[in-house]
Amino acid sequence: MSQQHASKKRGHTILLGGLGGDSHSVGLAILRQGLSANGYQVRYLGTQNTLADFFRMASLTNLVMISSMDGHARYYLRDFPALKREFKTNGMIWYLGGNLGVSEDYQRNFVEMGFNRVFTKFIDLTTVLDLLERDLEGVTPVANYPELWQHTLPATCSFPSVATDSLLEHETFELRRREVLEHWKTGSGARDIAGNAQFLIRQPSFPKAQAHARMKHGDILVQPRCGVALVDEQLRLFQNFQVAKVDVLSYQVDSLTRNNNYAGAEEAIRDSRASATSTLNGFPIINHGVPGLRRIAQQIRLPLQTRHSTRDPRLLAEISYAGGVTSFEGGAICYNIPYYKNYPLAESIRNWQYVDYLTGLHHKLFGIVLDREFFGTLTATLIPPCLAIVTNILETLLAVRQGVKCVSLGYAEQGHRSQDIAAIRMMTKMTHEILGHMGYKDVQLNTVFHQYMAAFPLSLKRADELIRSSAMTAARSGATRLIGKTPVEAFRIPTVTDNLTGIELIQAGLAGASDCHVDEVRVAQECAVIRREVEAIFESIVFCGNGDIAQGVVTGFEKGLIDIPFSPSVHNRGEVMTTRDVEGAVRFLSTGNLKLDRESREFHQDKVSERRQAEGIRSPSQDYLLVERDVMQVARCRYEHWPLGQ
Ligand code: 5AD
Repeated sequence: MSQQHASKKRGHTILLGGLGGDSHSVGLAILRQGLSANGYQVRYLGTQNTLADFFRMASLTNLVMISSMDGHARYYLRDFPALKREFKTNGMIWYLGGNLGVSEDYQRNFVEMGFNRVFTKFIDLTTVLDLLERDLEGVTPVANYPELWQHTLPATCSFPSVATDSLLEHETFELRRREVLEHWKTGSGARDIAGNAQFLIRQPSFPKAQAHARMKHGDILVQPRCGVALVDEQLRLFQNFQVAKVDVLSYQVDSLTRNNNYAGAEEAIRDSRASATSTLNGFPIINHGVPGLRRIAQQIRLPLQTRHSTRDPRLLAEISYAGGVTSFEGGAICYNIPYYKNYPLAESIRNWQYVDYLTGLHHKLFGIVLDREFFGTLTATLIPPCLAIVTNILETLLAVRQGVKCVSLGYAEQGHRSQDIAAIRMMTKMTHEILGHMGYKDVQLNTVFHQYMAAFPLSLKRADELIRSSAMTAARSGATRLIGKTPVEAFRIPTVTDNLTGIELIQAGLAGASDCHVDEVRVAQECAVIRREVEAIFESIVFCGNGDIAQGVVTGFEKGLIDIPFSPSVHNRGEVMTTRDVEGAVRFLSTGNLKLDRESREFHQDKVSERRQAEGIRSPSQDYLLVERDVMQVARCRYEHWPLGQ
């Protein structure tokens, strides 16, 4: 793609990757693209690497770029000087950037440690390219040894890439269940499934609330987000929301629990009690167990949901349902590909089939319908509707196969009103059609509109406008439920007051929705575009799995037939790249290996060419500039009003 540019360069090799626990990979994806487009050979390590991973690979490259995003760089880099001595990497050039969590004064320490350049704040890619050119002047490019590189890479996984979508056998489920309930000491509290059902059946039902809202057309349910360390605090938060007249409630689970670190969560709960402040970024439900959750459920008379992104979600689902929760979020694709570097899809499918089977079992044995929601938001950044929709359809099919009777399909607003409305409408329509074709007649289908999920405006005023105006789009899309944002999204986890402000803005937006202009002609055009793409991608996946959806997902990702932009996962090809067109709708810059037909591909090429022209971008080698602008546009408030386009 960058022949003309590449020939100007001398083919230096750059090792690029993220250091530490964080899974944010948008910046890395842009850097990767920008460097390749400008003639560098990029050796990409993705996120969540150790310092030793970088040193092992460094000698095969000219320059190492380390990004650290979670503010713990100082801690992760403690062994840098020792490793430098051990690996004898003299002459190597080292760059460090990201969210280093240190003052500019501290920058000097990293330089003394051996980094040639340290960027403590955001830096644009053009500056990085200029500095690279200067630093690599006169440096001989290393030879390219692709096989040696493959050999040196840490083994990705040993999990077999075999999967099946067939219904789990009950004995297998029981066998696994015995083990799952042993994962932590509170697991045994969920064992008596019949006893749990007696409690669960008396709880306000998420599926019923959604069915009721769908009947009263235009009555979208409003859901805020919250999550703190202790039961009493969590209860108080919920009580505040109840007063603010939200329709359904959920807690975000903390990130230690999400990584199945229950011992760590226990320590944090102790700290939170001692310091009387929450030291967790969510509600650690496994540690509080069934009694803690039931205490909340008994006092809150609204349907409850568990929201998380947990690697192994099985015990979490057990405790959620036993504790009175009637909706459980997540799925084998949507809670894997956007979050984990190396979580084989065949393994996540197996774990989520357990959750779906457990969900279905409640219906089979006790007639209790529970909701399963999918996080179609994915990496939240420039996600074209077709990829969100295909993911939701695949997750739905895997779930209903195990007996699930109610699903909620998630989609994150991208910012172009007609495209967003078309996405919600087509998601409902096409999932209905496909379920019908496959003989599933009794599945309740809901849609969830997430207010804008990528980097939020740094201006509170602009954030207010976004939330209000986004609620209008949500109402007009016909979504069943809206998951809200708060004006402080760019700065912190919202307090209860922040959340109440967010709810007021949403309610104001919903009240004014009937006056909001919707261009139905444009919506219909976007619907047609989406249908074509979804059909093509979905068919290619079903085909490559020989009709088995689970195998289709595993092989489809391997082959890049489905490919999620900006994902940190090594199981995702990462060849698809997206940007906005001149109107603000999300389009494909590169379709990678997606099996789109010629008409679809040409449509995107035309839209992107028009955008390049409007921005004065002369060649595709500068496409990274578009992506960089788009990713930062909303945060920097470089737009006139929300939505970005109609
Ligand atoms: N409390 C409130 N909001 C939360 N979010 C995540 N964790 C919490 C919490 N503990 C919100 C973030 C973001 C979204 C993914 O969830 O603000 O908007």
